[in-house]
Amino acid sequence: MKEFIQEKYKDIKESIYSVDYSSKYPDLINFGVGDPDLMTHEMIIKEAYDSQIAGHTHYENPQGYLGLREEISKAYKEDFDVKCDPSEILITMSGTEAMYIILEVILNPGEEVIVPSPYFSVYPDQIKMAEGVPVIYETKFEKEFNIEPREIEKLINEKTKAIIINTPNNPTGSVYSDETLKEVYEMAKKYNLIVICDDIYTIYSYESKFKPMISYDPEFKNVISISSMSKDYVMTGWRLGAIVAHKDLINAMTYVHENTVYAVPTLCQYAGAMGIANRKIICPPLYEEYKERMYLAYERLKKLNHVEVLRPKGTFYIFPKITVPDMTTDEVVREILEKAHVNLINGSAFGPAGEGFIRIAVTVNKDKINEAFDRIEKLDIFKK
Ligand SMILES: Cc1ncc(COP(=O)(O)O)c(C=O)c1O
Repeated sequence: MKEFIQEKYKDIKESIYSVDYSSKYPDLINFGVGDPDLMTHEMIIKEAYDSQIAGHTHYENPQGYLGLREEISKAYKEDFDVKCDPSEILITMSGTEAMYIILEVILNPGEEVIVPSPYFSVYPDQIKMAEGVPVIYETKFEKEFNIEPREIEKLINEKTKAIIINTPNNPTGSVYSDETLKEVYEMAKKYNLIVICDDIYTIYSYESKFKPMISYDPEFKNVISISSMSKDYVMTGWRLGAIVAHKDLINAMTYVHENTVYAVPTLCQYAGAMGIANRKIICPPLYEEYKERMYLAYERLKKLNHVEVLRPKGTFYIFPKITVPDMTTDEVVREILEKAHVNLINGSAFGPAGEGFIRIAVTVNKDKINEAFDRIEKLDIFKK
């Protein structure tokens, strides 16, 4: 059947996320996927039901339910001091869709997008799907995976159209400073580039309050902000995201969105509006829980031989460096899976700078985190 597939999709491999080891290892502890184990708040679930009983079972406005866009607009103002009108917001079917339609709308064939690595693995694929060219900028463990605007500037040329910024960062758990974000914004202004900010872990910033880069750009001339309810509200399965951008871009993005999915499911949008209106009740316990888990995993990792780990600053991912003599990272990951029945991801899945690292998603409870490290500690390769 491959003859029917167009060139750029011919060599697509099986997704790393579709491999399920739990049938092979019934006591598996899964640090693999970034899907929080906690359930969506009952208030949100109830609103989804109530909205349907109230008759909202129809198509919504393709740009998004106005009630949800108004809540997002209020939240950006109250939480980040960003003034955006509901007309400058598009509701999307997740952060993933948001990123794709932004790239689809802004990229002419061959235009380049700078992507700091390690990166959320879909970025380069989405750039290529939109006919663009990913240009990878490698961050370093020794510099706590921070980006250095002067280094990024060296990659800018006449084909550069955009830079993707993801802070707090998946997979490294790093958080960029306000000064760094301001510098990147100034650079975007200087070269007239767009910065696409994947602002989807906003509540999981453990040492400083998150401030989105779009707050430096009141007219939204160079910055786009993507938000998502997947992580901040543990709503991964609801597929609900949003874009805040200049009205001209929102119009074009609405066109792409409308012609692919038409509109986001209505019940999700009503539920999302309820969640955002009640974020001060819903989000703080999530923040506390994941922060505790991150520090627990960090303390346990520090005790292992052949492992170096940075103090976690954000998200629910830790990205330790693994240097076991005579073993590749793949072999270490396999050994942990086969002998300790703990699944985690080889850092190379997140780009070249991830080679030699593993990603641990602390999306299991503290007892399970302890159990996983009790097992890992017993492996010869990690004994001190
Ligand atoms: C940085 C980053 N962006 C986007 C996403 C996708 O989020 P969504 O569930 O909204 O598609 C993820 C999910 O892990 C992520 O880590």
